[in-house]
Amino acid sequence: MVRKYKFGAPFETEAVTADLPLCSEPCPYGTVDTASGFSFTCTLGARDVVYGLGEAVRGINKRGYEYVSFATDDGNHVEDKRSLYGAHNFVVVAGTPSFGVFVDCPARLTFDIGYTRQDTLHIYSECADLYLYIIDGGTPYDIVRQFRGIIGRSYIPPKFAFGYGQSRWGYKTPEDFRTVLKEHRNTHVPLDMLYMDIDYMQDYKDFTVNGENFPDFPAFVAEMQRQHIHLVPIIDAGVKVEDGYPVYEEGVEKGYFCHNADGSLFTPAVWPGWTHFPDVLDPEARAWFGGQYRVLLDAGIDGFWNDMNEPAIFYSKQGLADLAETYREALPEGEDMALLRVAQQGAWLAGSEKDYARFYHNVGGQMVRHDTVHNLYGYNMTRAAAEAFARLRPQQRILLFSRSSYIGMHRYGGIWTGDNRSWWSHILLNLQMLPSLNMCGFLYVGADIGGFGSDTTRDLLLRWLELAVFVPLMRNHSGTGIRRQEFYQFEQPEDLRHVIRVRYRLLPYLYSEYMKAALGGDMLFKPLAFVYPDDPFAPQVEDQLMLGGEVMIAPVYTQNAAGRYVYLPEEMDFVKFLPDGTIAEQWLPQGHHYVEIALNEVAMFIRKGRCIPLVDAAEYVDALDLGTMQYLGDKTAAYELYDDDGITPVAE
Ligand code: GLC
Repeated sequence: MVRKYKFGAPFETEAVTADLPLCSEPCPYGTVDTASGFSFTCTLGARDVVYGLGEAVRGINKRGYEYVSFATDDGNHVEDKRSLYGAHNFVVVAGTPSFGVFVDCPARLTFDIGYTRQDTLHIYSECADLYLYIIDGGTPYDIVRQFRGIIGRSYIPPKFAFGYGQSRWGYKTPEDFRTVLKEHRNTHVPLDMLYMDIDYMQDYKDFTVNGENFPDFPAFVAEMQRQHIHLVPIIDAGVKVEDGYPVYEEGVEKGYFCHNADGSLFTPAVWPGWTHFPDVLDPEARAWFGGQYRVLLDAGIDGFWNDMNEPAIFYSKQGLADLAETYREALPEGEDMALLRVAQQGAWLAGSEKDYARFYHNVGGQMVRHDTVHNLYGYNMTRAAAEAFARLRPQQRILLFSRSSYIGMHRYGGIWTGDNRSWWSHILLNLQMLPSLNMCGFLYVGADIGGFGSDTTRDLLLRWLELAVFVPLMRNHSGTGIRRQEFYQFEQPEDLRHVIRVRYRLLPYLYSEYMKAALGGDMLFKPLAFVYPDDPFAPQVEDQLMLGGEVMIAPVYTQNAAGRYVYLPEEMDFVKFLPDGTIAEQWLPQGHHYVEIALNEVAMFIRKGRCIPLVDAAEYVDALDLGTMQYLGDKTAAYELYDDDGITPVAE
C-alpha cells in the first residue's frame, strides 16, 4: 500500500506519475514534525537493514552514516562524502514490518540513518513543502516494486548501447577517434561506441563542432557508422557567453536563462568560461534547449551524455565580486586575478551554496530560488533532451545519460556515476550502488571503468571489466592527464579482449533481462536478501548481487587476489569463461566457498533450475547472431528470451 502525504505547498517535481489520493491518517511508521522544516523520525530494530539512496557512498546497507541529498560536483568519492551528483530520496527499512519512505523534496534533505543514534532513522530538511510517500506490504523487494509502479517506466536505450564504449577526455581530432577504432577492429576487440568529450566542440560551446578538426562533421559521423560505431558527444549545462553564438543570443533574447533576483542574468564560470544556465524548469525554455540537440541529430548522432548539470559552478561573477569585497583591504585594487587564484586553490568558490541561493528559475511566472529546487536541474536538462527526441525522432530510441539526476529522470535517461578513481574500493562501490540505483528506477547505469581519476593499472582494469561485463552502461572513460587506459595500452591485451568479448556473448541475456526489468518495473540487480528473504546470511552480503532472474555475480575487487570467498544461498552452477574461449562449469552446494578466479577469467553463478542463453561473440552488437545460441546452467530448464529490433521505441 502507498500512502501519500502533502505538507505545505510542494514544488511539483513530477517524480511520481501515479495519481494517488492524499492520505489523512497519521503516518504509521514514524513521527512527522513540520513545526520548523520537515522531520521524519522512526526507531530502527537492532537488525534492521536500510536499503536505498541510489547514488551514494558506502554499502548496500546504508545504516550507520549520514547522507545529504544535494547534487554535488565532487570527484573525490571517499567514504565521508555525504553527497554525490544525484539526489535519490528513497529508502526501504527492512524490519518487522518493512516499509519504504520516499521524500519528494527537491531542496537539501538529510538522511541520518543510525548516525546520531544507532537505533534511529531521522530524515530532515529546512524545507517543509513536500510530498511524503510511505509504502508497506510484503518484503523489501515487494515494497520496491510498488514504488517503481508509481514513478513510471524506466528509460529504454537502443540495443547498441549495451555494447562496449571507449572514452577519454582528450580525444580531439578525427585521427584520435580513428586510431582508437583501428586498435579495436584490428585485433577484433568489440566496440560499439566512441564518446566525444568536450574537445569536439568549438571553445566548449554546446551544439557546436570544432570546424578546423571536423570540417565535415556529418561525413565523419557517417564514416564511423559505416564501421558500426556510434559517436556519443557530451553536452554541458552551461551555455557560453559569447556574442555571435546563436544559442547564447537566442537564449538571452527569449529570456530562457536563469537570472538573479534583480532580473540580470546569472553568470557562472564552467569549462567554457562565463556561461548562463538554460532555465530547464521553465517548459518553454526546456523545449527550446532540447530543440538545440537537433543540429547534432541531423548530423547523424544518436547518443548523448549530459554533463555538469548539478549544475556545476567553478565560480560566479557575483561570487568573485563578494570575495573582492571581503578582501578589499588586503589586496590592491584591480587584483581580481590574484584573488581568483587564491580562491581556486582553496576551492572556495566552486559549488558554493551562496551561488545556488543567488539565482532563480521562472516557473509559471513565479520566481523560484534555485537552492529550493536544486536537485531537479540535471533531471530537467535530460528531460529537455528526451522530450525533444520524442518530437524530432519519434521512431528511434536515442542513447541518453546524465551525470546529475533525481527520481523521475529515470524515465528519460540513464546515469553514469561521475568522476570516480582508479581505486580498488571503487570497483566495490560501483557494485554496491547498482541495486540502490535500480530501486530508484535507474536501470541504464554504469561507472567509468578503470577509473576516471588517478593512474590505472592493468589488473585493476581487468577486474573492473569483469564486473562491468554485467552492467548495462559499459564504458571505459578517463580524465585528461592521467595514464591512458584503452585496452591496447597494456601488456597481453588478449586478456582484456577476452573479457570484453564475454560481454557480447552474454548480451542477448543482458538485454533480455534489462527489458524485462524495464517493462515490468523490476530491478536488474538485487541484493541477495531480496531474492532469499528467509536466508539468515543474505542481508550481510555486501559484495555479491543477483542479476536478472538467473544469475548471481561475485567479482574479485582486491589486488593480487587469486579468487575470493563467496556465499551461495542455494546450490549454483559456478561458471568461468576461460581465456582460451572455453567455459568451465561446476555445481557447488549451498554455503560458503572459496573460489579461484584468475585475472583473465570472468566468473558468475547460475541458480539451480535455471539456464541462460549464450551466443558467439561479435565485433559490434548488430553482428551478434542468435543462431549461435546455446544454453548455460541447468540444461533441462527453459529460458524466456525477450528480443526486439533494439531501435523502435517500445510503446507504454
Ligand atoms: C566532468 C565529467 C567527466 C568529463 C569532464 C570533461 O568531470 O564528469 O566525465 O570527462 O567533465 O568534460
